[in-house]
Amino acid sequence: MYRIAVIPADGVGPEVSEEAERALRAAARCYRFDVETEWFDWGCDRYLADGTMMPADYLEVLAGFDAIFLGSVGDVSKVPDHLSLELILGIRRGFDQYVNLRPIRLYPGVGTPIRTATPETLDMVVVRENTEGEYAAQGGVFKAGTPDAVALQTAVFTHKGCERVMRYSFELARQRSKLGSEAPVGRVTNCTKSNALNYSMVFWDTVFDEVAAGYPDVETDMALVDALSMWMVKNPEWFDVVVASNLFGDIITDLGAMLQGGMGFAAGGNIDPERRFPSMFEPIHGSAPKYTGQRRVNPIASIEATRMMLDHLGEHQAAEAVGAAIVEVLAEGEVSTRDMGGTNTTDEVGAAVADRIR
Ligand code: IPM
Ligand code: MN
Repeated sequence: MYRIAVIPADGVGPEVSEEAERALRAAARCYRFDVETEWFDWGCDRYLADGTMMPADYLEVLAGFDAIFLGSVGDVSKVPDHLSLELILGIRRGFDQYVNLRPIRLYPGVGTPIRTATPETLDMVVVRENTEGEYAAQGGVFKAGTPDAVALQTAVFTHKGCERVMRYSFELARQRSKLGSEAPVGRVTNCTKSNALNYSMVFWDTVFDEVAAGYPDVETDMALVDALSMWMVKNPEWFDVVVASNLFGDIITDLGAMLQGGMGFAAGGNIDPERRFPSMFEPIHGSAPKYTGQRRVNPIASIEATRMMLDHLGEHQAAEAVGAAIVEVLAEGEVSTRDMGGTNTTDEVGAAVADRIR
């Protein structure tokens, strides 16, 4: 029996969470496991009612679950983003979910702005550091509110923090073996900026080289984040696993989402590889408040997040079946949401995928 916490949160979060749950239930039926979900009403509406996005003991509440599904958080018309987003960031840090795993792949039948990309060639994974770096939340405002105000926001790179996310990336490259089963089995690209960030990113590179030395069978590569953005557009087929700091990973995965046809296809897993805490899966798109309740957004990212969750839970066959159902529905192209040029609703696409899970 798996217990899944669902935090639908704001904007279109609830409608895509419904489709994630529908896929999860279909997979559970076909693969004969039990699943129980509990929905939490945390988010901006709660904030308007009582001044909190979530209860003070939210981490204790979530700790008892096997995994978390997160819809999407934030609505600036209700709560400033830097306050509401503590709901996501607090879980990532609080549960030490140090890997933010973001697959970027082109599904058959989906349009991409990259003329040369195909489902065979556009298939990479960004491993984003998820607990420190530029998101360490260290700093303050000196002389706030005066003409001399100075803001400080310090990035924090620990040896442990860099090492563990890099090690995960190398292990992943071995498993994926994009380059074939003989050495080199895969490629890890170090996304860096050590030409300009002379402390943090030079340190990051040093740790990368240390970790890489333990994986002689995996090819390595390095690219400065600005150039990497260019190469992702020009030659996406080159990339296999890309390891990036928190902020760089954030930025290049929105770019990646566009390569794969839009935010509606991009999913992410916030993972604690050591399994001390529940991991959290989410579509990486925002809450799109203006579309709330219109049932027009694409549920594929959320269903893909469910696939990642099942994989993490060890339900590999069920995960594969969900992935296959997504591919079938997209390849046929009979149902599609507005972002794909179609006219179907979120739930129509979600139901079509769920029906194909077998
Ligand atoms: C993401 C989002 C978040 C981030 C925001 C909502 C805090 O953009 O998951 O990519 O910056 O990590
Ligand atoms: Mn982002």
